[in-house]
Amino acid sequence: MTSLPPPALELKAVTKRYGPVTALGGVDLRLDRHSVLGLVGENGAGKSSIISVINGTARPSEGQVLVAGRPVTLGSPAEAARAGIATVFQEQGLVANLLVYENILLGRERQFSRAGILGAAAMRRFAGNVLGELGIAIDPDAVTGALTFGERQLVEIAKAFALGHLYPVEPIVLLDEPTSALSDRETEILFDSIRRWRSKASILLVSHRLSDVFAVCDAVTTLKDGRVSGHWPIDSATPDLLHEAIVGRPRSAGYYKEHEQRETFGEPVLELVDVEVSGQLRPVSLSVRAGEIVGVAGVLGSGKTTLGHVITGALRPSRGAIRVHGRPLRPGSRAAALAADIGSVPAERNVAGVIGMHSVQSNLVLPSIRSFAGRFLPILSGRRQAQTTDRWIQRLRIKTAGRNQQIRNLSGGNAQKVVFAKWLARGVRVFVLDDPGRGLDVGAKEEIYALLRSLARDGVAIVLISENLPEIIGLSNRIITFRGGAVSAEIPAPAHDKPSETAVVTNMV
Ligand SMILES: Nc1ncnc2c1ncn2[C@@H]1O[C@H](COP(=O)(O)OP(=O)(O)OP(=O)(O)O)[C@@H](O)[C@H]1O
Ligand SMILES: [Mg+2]
Repeated sequence: MTSLPPPALELKAVTKRYGPVTALGGVDLRLDRHSVLGLVGENGAGKSSIISVINGTARPSEGQVLVAGRPVTLGSPAEAARAGIATVFQEQGLVANLLVYENILLGRERQFSRAGILGAAAMRRFAGNVLGELGIAIDPDAVTGALTFGERQLVEIAKAFALGHLYPVEPIVLLDEPTSALSDRETEILFDSIRRWRSKASILLVSHRLSDVFAVCDAVTTLKDGRVSGHWPIDSATPDLLHEAIVGRPRSAGYYKEHEQRETFGEPVLELVDVEVSGQLRPVSLSVRAGEIVGVAGVLGSGKTTLGHVITGALRPSRGAIRVHGRPLRPGSRAAALAADIGSVPAERNVAGVIGMHSVQSNLVLPSIRSFAGRFLPILSGRRQAQTTDRWIQRLRIKTAGRNQQIRNLSGGNAQKVVFAKWLARGVRVFVLDDPGRGLDVGAKEEIYALLRSLARDGVAIVLISENLPEIIGLSNRIITFRGGAVSAEIPAPAHDKPSETAVVTNMV
């Protein structure tokens, strides 16, 4: 009898507890050599915990991790790297003021120095080759901090794959939601490199986009509440099967709640008149009425994110006027935007959305408290703050040990739900959302969509910026497309007559 070669990686009955929280309860997982395994599950299901246990960031409380059939105890990410395990984390870890090639080889410089002298030229050449092999057109000499979010993500990915050249082992690459910050084009580049690298590596891919799984994975494992709830070779998996294994119930038909879409609106709430940002945004005029959802579509760098920044006061326009309920808004001031009841869910949420060291409660009540600053008495009592927090934890099903849990101990998607909750708790008249579905599982997205519908019903004016076309078409009353920093079209999107994706894309490229 010939025995098959062992899988690249195996987890046997792995349990992980964080204090009273059981993140993983007896997980068996198998990653075959030269294959791509998709790992999907709700926010807080334990996906990142599996990655931490494999890459030495966390020790399993029970169970075993096997690499090439042999049990290993990996005490640190550095140790894991020597075993060939590289990770692209959910939150980015590059050093902004280093050059791209320095980041790619961070911690591995010794391999490039001779007699104590750092071989910068060799490092640069090496990094350039890795980027080239992956088909990533980024200059190894660029300053990392000057790159876009998506480009930095591609550098992280190159850094992980570089490991295969640095150690005499076949790399196991762990990707934790690598596509959530990437544009469609960048996602294609990543998938091309994954396909190219499959013959040299074994890859575990965590994603909330089922389309990612079907595009590059050979098999998929679903996780629910810290346990494996299903496993399929990709040919026998379907979106509906996965959806049910992830959420625990079948997918509902009205995902975007089109039947709840308003078709008549109140008075204009948000008005932009010839708003311009030199070099980034050509003059835009726009009016959003009470109860209206206006979608803003465009590729990366088209101006759509800039528009959001201008409305929320993060960026000062060089010209033009913004009015809320007819009153002029002081430009470039977050405080003024807040005072005008403009809420925002920014694209880079771990930077601008929440404070990791603070608790769920203090993050959640933050904008409400600030809006009362300067008065003699804090309006919210401690008890009411706690009640409000608990109500939103329940309503959005935020998975947390409690309202005093630090945000950084929440799973990525649950931290994002807190960003929503803080605005919903405070109440807003204008809500600007940049890519609201990012990092959220299919069930959580559906809940957020339902909430947006109910905000619209209550007369909130909503600006929905997104690269997700089905989402923007499904939710919006009308869609504004951007191209090269200017509005290229305005497309009506009533519930009974939604435009096709092609009709929208044509105006974006
Ligand atoms: N350091 C920690 N301390 C306490 N609890 C933690 C810690 N890390 C993770 N958890 C908890 O473990 C559970 C699983 O979290 P994990 O980050 O693995 O989820 P996930 O599947 O990656 O979710 P997401 O899709 O939102 O990223 C969550 O309930 C989370 O709050
Ligand atoms: Mg995660």
